[in-house]
Amino acid sequence: MLKLLSGEILKIKTECIVVPVCEDEEIHADPALIHLIENAKKIKEFNGEKDDSVMLFEPSESKAERILFIGIGKLDKINAEVLRSFAGKTIKQLIPKELSEIIICAPSPEKLHLTEEVVLGAIFEGAFLGNHIFDKYKKDKKRKPLKTVSVFTDSKTAKSQRLLASRIQTVCRGTILAREWVSMPPNEKQPERLVRSMVKAAEKEDLSFTILDEKALKQNGMGAILAVGSGSRSKPRLLILDYNPFKNRKAPKTKKTFVLVGKGVTFDSGGINLKPSGSLDEMKMDMSGAASVAATLITLARLKHKFRVVGVLPVVENMPSGEATRPGDIIKTYSGKTVEIGNTDAEGRLILIDAMSYAIKMFKPDVMIDMATLTGACIIALGEKIAGVFSTDEPLVKDIVASGEATAERCWPMPMPEDYKPLLKSEFADINNMSSTRWGGAITAALFLSEFVEDTRWAHIDIAGPAYSKKSGDYCGAGGTGFGVRLLIDFLTKI
Ligand code: BES
Ligand code: MN
Ligand code: ZN
Repeated sequence: MLKLLSGEILKIKTECIVVPVCEDEEIHADPALIHLIENAKKIKEFNGEKDDSVMLFEPSESKAERILFIGIGKLDKINAEVLRSFAGKTIKQLIPKELSEIIICAPSPEKLHLTEEVVLGAIFEGAFLGNHIFDKYKKDKKRKPLKTVSVFTDSKTAKSQRLLASRIQTVCRGTILAREWVSMPPNEKQPERLVRSMVKAAEKEDLSFTILDEKALKQNGMGAILAVGSGSRSKPRLLILDYNPFKNRKAPKTKKTFVLVGKGVTFDSGGINLKPSGSLDEMKMDMSGAASVAATLITLARLKHKFRVVGVLPVVENMPSGEATRPGDIIKTYSGKTVEIGNTDAEGRLILIDAMSYAIKMFKPDVMIDMATLTGACIIALGEKIAGVFSTDEPLVKDIVASGEATAERCWPMPMPEDYKPLLKSEFADINNMSSTRWGGAITAALFLSEFVEDTRWAHIDIAGPAYSKKSGDYCGAGGTGFGVRLLIDFLTKI
C-alpha cells in the first residue's frame, strides 16, 4: 500500500527511512535531512554516486530503526525514470531483509526542476511496481512484499497530492494485472480460460462484456480469427469489454468512443510454419496486447474515466495439427476481403483485422489503437525497450509518443510507405498475410493492418520488444512487463 507522509521526519517511528542522495548537489529541502546527508557523506565509501548505498542502524538522531542512503548520481541526469528505478531498486534491496514498512524521502521538486506530481508519482510507481513478486507457481514463497511504502515530503502542497497515491496505486495494479496474465504459463491460459479470467476481473468493475464463442464467430463470418484458432483444441474467442460511463445517465454533449484492440495469442507456436525451438517458451507472451488492453479497461473503470472506451480482444492459440490452417489456404475475413495465408506464423495480423473491422462496424470509434506483439522485426528495429508506433495520423502519433515519454513506456514513430504495399500482393486472393521480402517486416505488418481500417483514426503499437523480459529490471521482475497500461491510461486521461 502507498501512503503520503509529511511532518517531522526524525520523529517518525519506522523500520527504515530511505534517503536518495545526489552526488553533486543537495536535492532535499528539509534541514533535518540535509544534516543527515552531510553526516552520511563523511563516510569515506559513500558520496551519492549512482547505486552506492550505506545503511545506518539505530541512528541516534532519529526514531527509525535504520536509515538507508542511496546514491542516485548527478543532478543533471536525474529525471522521473531515475526516480522510478531508484524506488524500485530500493524495494528490491529491502524485501530480502524482511521489512514490512518503510519511508522513502522524496527530493524537493524545485531542486530537480520537476513538478511535485512527477517526483512523487515516479517514486510511488517505482516502489509499487518493484514490490510485486510473481511466485504463484512456487511452492515456497520465500520473499514477501513490503506491506506499506510511505513517501515523505516536506512540501506545503502535500495535501493536494493525497489523491495521487491512490491514483498511482490503481494504475500500477493494472500494470501488475497485465504482468501476471503475461507471465502465466500457456497451459493455464488457453483462450477459454484466459477470457474467463479477464471477465472475472472485469465483472468486479463497472464494465460490461460480450464473448463471441466459436459458433458466434462462425455466424459473424470471422474467418481470420477462426483460421488462426483452428489448429488448437481450445477454440478461439472474441472478448469485448465495454466501459461506458454514460450508460445509465443522460447523454452528454460530446460522446467520444475510443476502441482499444489487443492481440491475444495465448501461445504462438507458429502453426504449420512451426517456429524453431530457440525461445519458443517465451511465446506465451503473445497475448500481451490483450492483457494490457483488458487491464487498461479495468483500470479506467476504477478511475471512473470520463468517456467510453471499448476493448476488443481476439484470443486464440496458434497450434499445428491436422485441423490447422495451411500455408496456401485462402480465407474470407469479416470485412469480406480474402487473404492468402503465406505464412501461418503471421497470425497476429489475421486476428487483428477481424477484430478491427468488427470494432469499426459496431462502435464507430473516434480513435482506434491496437496493441500487439506483432513482429520480431520490430525488435530488430527498436530493441527490447521501445515500441513502434505506426499511423498516418500525426497528431495521434505525437500524443502517443508524449505519453511514452511521460510514463517511460517509450514509443517511436515508424513509417507507413505507400509504395511498400505491393509487397503484400497475392496472385490468388485480395492480399497475402506475408510480405514477399523479409526486410521491413514490422512495416509490412502494419501496412497489412491498414488495409482493413478505412478512414478511422487509427494507430498500431508493436510491443513485441518491451512486452516481456527474460531478466528482471529495476521495477519489474522477469516475465511480463505490463507495458502499455500506464501508456494508454496516460494517453486517455490527457485527451
Ligand atoms: N508473435 C510473433 C512476433 C514476436 C516475435 C513477438 C518475437 C515477440 C517476440 C509473430 O506472430 C510472428 O511470428 N511474426 C513473424 C512474422 C513473419 C512470419 C512474417 C516474425 O516476426 O517473424
Ligand atoms: Mn507468429
Ligand atoms: Zn504471434
